[in-house]
Amino acid sequence: MSAVLLCLLLAGPVLLAASRPYDDSNNGTVPLVLWHGMGDSCCNPLSMGAIKKMIEEEISGIYVLSLMIGKNVVQDTENGFFMDVNEQVSMVCSQLAQDPKLKGGYNAMGFSQGAQFLRAVAQRCPSPPMKTLISVGGQHQGVYGLPRCPGETSHICDFIRKALNSGAYSDMVQKHLVQAQYWHDPLNDDLYKKHSLFLADVNQERVVNETYKKNLQLLDKFVMVKFLQDSVVDPVDSEWFGFLKTGQAKETETLQESVLYKEDRLGLAAMDKAGKLVFLATEGDHLQFTREWFTANLLPYLR
Ligand SMILES: *[C@@H]1O[C@H](CO)[C@@H](O)[C@H](O)[C@H]1NC(C)=O
Ligand SMILES: *[C@@H]1O[C@H](CO)[C@@H](O)[C@H](O)[C@H]1NC(C)=O
Repeated sequence: MSAVLLCLLLAGPVLLAASRPYDDSNNGTVPLVLWHGMGDSCCNPLSMGAIKKMIEEEISGIYVLSLMIGKNVVQDTENGFFMDVNEQVSMVCSQLAQDPKLKGGYNAMGFSQGAQFLRAVAQRCPSPPMKTLISVGGQHQGVYGLPRCPGETSHICDFIRKALNSGAYSDMVQKHLVQAQYWHDPLNDDLYKKHSLFLADVNQERVVNETYKKNLQLLDKFVMVKFLQDSVVDPVDSEWFGFLKTGQAKETETLQESVLYKEDRLGLAAMDKAGKLVFLATEGDHLQFTREWFTANLLPYLR
């Protein structure tokens, strides 16, 4: 999920990046891959376009690739609702593998649902290597509710709510509705584990895929940003990899309290111990941050 218009807040003084010695074809910078959220596209001048521009202003010479899923902006936006997530991830994997500028590795920043999709890229496609993954309002344990929709897509959201209520784990809905693929119903844990095509797989709910575990641990850092007044993501704990306790829909647990962590099924406990997990919180609704906050808190991971 994502909000368009997030960048209206980003206007502000331009801080010049410190000059650094020239060393390779990327001027000593690490390339950055962005994956937008639901209802958004690669190139919206008010969201991803503005983020890309801001980062290019702050880090001179950086190569920023804002992913387009499909042939154009319209397809890209629609695919964020209706295209099989596993297919999206493999499309992105081959795009990244074919990009000569990413050969030496890259950092990745995912917004909202784009964040959990980029984590799947890290787990499934270790080449070229992803160095740091920054999740901005991502839902790593999925969602159990869609209280509000971003932007002008509320009619699509009404449709999505109806489809999810009619049976999020039916094959038909799983295959064709992106949000169903990270729908996590704590009252129907068996159904979730068995039928969730995307999230249950990347979160090792069915089996422990040692490849996922090994690849995720190759990251230098996994940074997760939570929005303290988020009114789009339910429960917001998912932004820090927490969720509702199984069997009820009220009490939540943190990542550290979860079976996933205690059994270390994904390597997250090991990463935590190694100081690779970073939990950041910021005031504001979903994806609402200022340029000052972004510069102070996220840019240091991209330099
Ligand atoms: C920095 O890298 C970019 C992209 O590779 C290139 O276009 C630009 O000329 C480089 N700048 C310098 C100062 O080398
Ligand atoms: C584990 O993940 C790798 C990488 O995506 C995949 O090739 C392999 O088939 C998976 N193994 C199982 C048992 O799911």
